[in-house]
Amino acid sequence: MTEASLKIRPNPLSLRAWVLRLAASRRFQAWAARTPLVRRLARAEGAALFDIVAGFVNAQVLRALVDLRVLQQLQQGPATAVQMGALCAVAPDRMQVLLQAGAGLGLLTRHRDGRFGLALRGASLLGVPGLAEMVQHHSALYADLSDPVAFLRNDDPTALARFWPYVFGAAGAVDPQVTATYSNLMAESQVLVAEDTLRMVDLSGVNRLMDVGGGTGAFLAAVGAAYPKLQMDLFDLPVVLHGAGARLGAAGLSNRVTLHPGSFRDDPLPLGADAISLVRVLYDHADATVANLLAAVHAALPPKGRLIVSEPMSGGTDPDRTTDVYFAIYTLAMQTGRTRSGAEIAALLTDAGFVNISIQKGFRPFVTSVVTGERGGS
Ligand SMILES: C[S@@+](CC[C@H](N)C(=O)[O-])C[C@H]1O[C@@H](n2cnc3c(N)ncnc32)[C@H](O)[C@@H]1O
Repeated sequence: MTEASLKIRPNPLSLRAWVLRLAASRRFQAWAARTPLVRRLARAEGAALFDIVAGFVNAQVLRALVDLRVLQQLQQGPATAVQMGALCAVAPDRMQVLLQAGAGLGLLTRHRDGRFGLALRGASLLGVPGLAEMVQHHSALYADLSDPVAFLRNDDPTALARFWPYVFGAAGAVDPQVTATYSNLMAESQVLVAEDTLRMVDLSGVNRLMDVGGGTGAFLAAVGAAYPKLQMDLFDLPVVLHGAGARLGAAGLSNRVTLHPGSFRDDPLPLGADAISLVRVLYDHADATVANLLAAVHAALPPKGRLIVSEPMSGGTDPDRTTDVYFAIYTLAMQTGRTRSGAEIAALLTDAGFVNISIQKGFRPFVTSVVTGERGGS
């Protein structure tokens, strides 16, 4: 295949074009690497570039540490590669490479006596609910991305879409084993999402909140604890709601949450809530499905009723290091999803008839950001 090339040429007189030409020249890079003042910048740029180049290997080192439960083991105290190798059934010289790599990534520390211990970053990983499970389920995403150009050019079935069967419609999500796997993953990681959402959204004026696509109720459990008087509704696919009773019972919320099994693609949403939340729901679906869902939410709310959308969002005009790479590619691999910017979600809300729309970028955009709106009318 002959290589295609863009016919557009940047303005040769622009300062930016000149800087970019300079940065791409080997001679300039060699000069920058040995020249004081510029040297630091060149090194930082080089390190950032190398980080991108090495990304997959970094992620797989993390995956091995997670699969072998190395971080949990080192929580007990520092250990040598021989000790860890024996525990994990890995030859000591290979375990040494893995532990050294973990230390290079800042997850472990290497002691003077040669033992390895847990670093702050490794300990933090253990403290993030669901992160280990998230790392492990990436095998599906990485399989889909093994040939990224083919992935971009073709629309072949993906392993990730099989992990989230409802993307094919509610009928796809009938295997309780499969839905339990994704529901647990979501419930684990929901803790941080709920924390950040409740930081950005004040529900004190709300009497009844309905969480649509709320999984097994992890978000409502957090809301219920923060707002003891609030009544709640949980709407999700019947097979998913099977797992909700136990969670809500354990949280002491059985008599404050009403379960509504159904599909928002086919069934009307129940009436009665003065606020509706959609947490990590819209980015799973194509624009047409989202438009129908938002119209259904609008119809289910009373005048001045509130809609809260919470999910990781694209940086839009200001591309984001986390959401525009990880989530955008992830939702593309789901085949029906799309990581939208706050402005794009706001436009969809406006089209559905919502007013007083506000966009709040989360303080951890990779956890969540929020768009809220209100049903117009008096
Ligand atoms: C990515 S999960 C998010 C779950 C939860 N809101 C959270 O943030 O942890 C998307 C949820 O939407 C639900 N869902 C997908 N399609 C649905 C449909 N047609 N009707 C009702 N719920 C649906 C799924 O079962 C799943 O629980």
